[in-house]
Amino acid sequence: MINRGQSLDGDGYVEEIPYTYGYHPELAPSRMRFALLLAGYEAPEVRRACELGFGRGLSLAVHAAATDIHWYGNDLLPQHVAGLRELVASSGARVTVFAEPFADFCTRDDLPSFDFIGLHGVWNWVSIENRARIVDFLNTRLAPGGVVYLGHNSLAGWRSMLPLRQWLVADVERSRAQGLTLADGIELARTRAAELADPELELPSRFLRGKSIAYLAHELFNRDWHPMAFRDVEHALQRADLAFVAEARGVDAFESLNFTAPQRAQLGALDRGAREDAKDRFLARKFRRDYFGKRGGLRVLSAAERLQRLQAQRIALACSRERAMADLVVGACAVRIDPQRVARIVTLLAEHGPLSIGEIATEPAEFSAALECVALLIDRAAVALVINDSVDERIDHACRAVNERLSRLAQTQPEVTVRAHPVYGVGEPTG
Ligand SMILES: C[S@@+](CC[C@H](N)C(=O)[O-])C[C@H]1O[C@@H](n2cnc3c(N)ncnc32)[C@H](O)[C@@H]1O
Repeated sequence: MINRGQSLDGDGYVEEIPYTYGYHPELAPSRMRFALLLAGYEAPEVRRACELGFGRGLSLAVHAAATDIHWYGNDLLPQHVAGLRELVASSGARVTVFAEPFADFCTRDDLPSFDFIGLHGVWNWVSIENRARIVDFLNTRLAPGGVVYLGHNSLAGWRSMLPLRQWLVADVERSRAQGLTLADGIELARTRAAELADPELELPSRFLRGKSIAYLAHELFNRDWHPMAFRDVEHALQRADLAFVAEARGVDAFESLNFTAPQRAQLGALDRGAREDAKDRFLARKFRRDYFGKRGGLRVLSAAERLQRLQAQRIALACSRERAMADLVVGACAVRIDPQRVARIVTLLAEHGPLSIGEIATEPAEFSAALECVALLIDRAAVALVINDSVDERIDHACRAVNERLSRLAQTQPEVTVRAHPVYGVGEPTG
């Protein structure tokens, strides 16, 4: 494999090409709370959280600045950790991070227990030994009633890439042996892949064309790359006594938005694990975002409590009215959502400022349809959950400090398109 020759410290992870800057709102505890509420669970109060393998650290920096939560985390690469420390330096955000591999971090005896532990884009890119260390960590470090976020590659969407990836890795290894850089090797392999007269490889080869070399290097060229079926992930996490609670994107909670009537009929006949796998197949999904909780550790809300809490949830328009509507037209769910209902919600928020969902959906018969629209708008970052009604001075200062650095960083890294929001507790897109 590509990284076989690198030091053992590298753990088979691509170090030659810096990782991309990504922001993942599902790592925000406020999003977790909303997804759990949709699924009918009471979320834990999050005081301490931890992100494993945080990469460039945008999510961790934003979530630490925009909330009161003390965030911990680790990443293998010292430059990732240094970059994150620089982002939050003297901001007052409570961040404790370590430049350590999972083998060391997960066995530290000086860590607290966490109400929320997240890992995005890590699970499938590490060895079986590291997955076992992560599971042990979740088992020992998750507080009772805590929640785990896992953003992970799904086998359903990557099936066709498996044979092409093997070919690509071998091709890049040959190029490397001839002295090419990893980036040049990948570029050449991508060109050659497009010329392979193999109809089965056409689709995955087309996928490679639209992606950056940095993305491809980290997606496909680590020593480890193991997209997994949901059921296998679920099974692995059972060792930490974790059970699936909800998909992390609120919009995924509404099957009527995402699946046809015959698909829904099929899903209805399946048990939980088989159902999630079938959903991935129907959507040819490459990436899943899930919350898991300790078995029996989360309180189930009564239907009345759920409804009352959803009605009380305040939301705000987080972009212009035009963008909120424009984004909607291109989304996958657009075919099944009523644009007039969405327009009415967007207009209400634009004219009145933040409102509770109950104030938006006053007719009981309309509530569920309105909730679908709200979940979709949140997913598109057009609407945000309001988590702080008044801006806390410390959080405001931390957001300003981190945002100033993010703006500076964005001058050289155009992927940095997010800023910490002191009222929403998440990152707000700049565009
Ligand atoms: C695909 S990246 C995802 C980064 C980040 N979570 C994101 O989604 O933007 C995987 C991250 O895991 C880290 N990583 C890989 N192997 C690791 C290990 N053995 N110990 C600690 N971190 C590791 C890498 O340095 C990298 O930052």
